[in-house]
Amino acid sequence: MHDDALTAPVDETAAAALTKNGLRMAVVDPADDAQAEAWLHADARGFHDPAHSDALLGELRASQPLQRSVGVYDDGIAEPGIPVATVAAWPAALTVPGGQLDSWAISAVTVAPTHRRRGVARAMLESELRVAVAAGIPIAALTVTETTIYRRYGFGPATWSTDVEVDARRVGWDGGEAPGRVQLITRDGAIAVGSTLLEEARRATPGDVQVVGHRFGRIFGAPSEPEEQRKRRFARYDDADGVTRGLLVYRPTQEEGDFTNFSVDVLHLVATTDDAYRALWRFVLSLDLVGTVRAFLRPVDEPLRWLVADPRRIRTTEVREHLWLRVLDPVAVLSARTYAGPGRLALRVADPLGHAEGAFTVAADASRAATVTPGEQEGVPLLEVPVDVLGSLYLGGASAVSLLRAGRLRERTPGDAALADRLLRPPMAPVLTTWF
Ligand SMILES: CC(C)(COP(=O)(O)OP(=O)(O)OC[C@H]1O[C@@H](n2cnc3c(N)ncnc32)[C@H](O)[C@@H]1OP(=O)(O)O)[C@@H](O)C(=O)NCCC(=O)NCCS
Repeated sequence: MHDDALTAPVDETAAAALTKNGLRMAVVDPADDAQAEAWLHADARGFHDPAHSDALLGELRASQPLQRSVGVYDDGIAEPGIPVATVAAWPAALTVPGGQLDSWAISAVTVAPTHRRRGVARAMLESELRVAVAAGIPIAALTVTETTIYRRYGFGPATWSTDVEVDARRVGWDGGEAPGRVQLITRDGAIAVGSTLLEEARRATPGDVQVVGHRFGRIFGAPSEPEEQRKRRFARYDDADGVTRGLLVYRPTQEEGDFTNFSVDVLHLVATTDDAYRALWRFVLSLDLVGTVRAFLRPVDEPLRWLVADPRRIRTTEVREHLWLRVLDPVAVLSARTYAGPGRLALRVADPLGHAEGAFTVAADASRAATVTPGEQEGVPLLEVPVDVLGSLYLGGASAVSLLRAGRLRERTPGDAALADRLLRPPMAPVLTTWF
């Protein structure tokens, strides 16, 4: 893990650009209470969140050393200690087909309304990419609030997620019985099994990113949100040998004025075996007094529809891109994943920021691992891609043929995009199951 990136100094190129605008860029010292709290305040304000309660501030402060927080300051304003722009990033493992690699997870991108449209966001984003490159981190990752911003920095949407709403009374179960046992557990019990299970499931799920710091506590309902914490319920699935294989975090809510009709939100359904997956879905869909079950950030090819009697009672309420990736080192990232089988593919990448510019040839062997070399070889299928499209293709979540038809990439010979899809697309669509 590239933890040394956490202590990287300010990026001088960005700092110099901001100085010309009368602004000062600084890395926040997590041990400096006043500076760290002012940064958190600015982050909340940037997203129109309420001011942090003391409890939330405590939680965020505790995990601040796990991220590199950067502030941009205007020393001429009334309260110069509060940054006018924020960004944070940390190293986080990203699961890819057949393995994992370190990513630079970026979050908390805000610019105060008084300082917008002066290139502050651009300076910050470009600086994060340079910091990652300097630390040897081959890819940057983020989840976005505003989808229209990040392509210009080379990020492309790489995974898609769905929200679903199930008519629990009519959907019917057709998935049989799992051999193990589901049991209700307390929040403490869920936390006790949670870290191992979440990490095991994350490592088996291309597109998923390691949960770091306070985000882990949020899964179980954070102490800073006591109301929310009290509403959460937990169940686990143990296999026939008594080994815990799955965890469900859900929240029942009474529909207005009707204590015989609840809806249930599935906040996390984590399973490391198919039996656990089946058992936990069956459990939540057969709760008494429950009419509707909603689930969030689910994979686009969720097997659930094949486990029920009436798949039409599962309504997809949202499909959206979720994880955005920015390739910084094509040789490292393309070598880190496995491919569908033996084959070769060349990629000619255009990167206005230069990090990923060039041509690269992937040669996958029968073991599905690949050797990646700079340059393109004659007779190998070749795609010409802007770097954001490489991010979209990388995990196999987007189809090269679809991108070709949209004019977002070019193929050297007709059929190259279809050959690329055969090599790149994994058996199940990649998915990111959390926010960061
Ligand atoms: C979004 C935000 C960070 C942009 O900051 P900024 O400093 O004004 O951005 P910049 O001046 O560096 O502009 C960067 C580019 O993004 C574009 N841009 C800026 N805000 C945009 C928006 N809301 N929608 C679409 N494009 C936007 C600019 O036109 C500019 O394009 P160019 O470089 O191709 O000319 C800022 O408006 C903000 O803090 N918004 C509220 C919080 C938020 O939405 N954060 C993003 C979380 S994903």
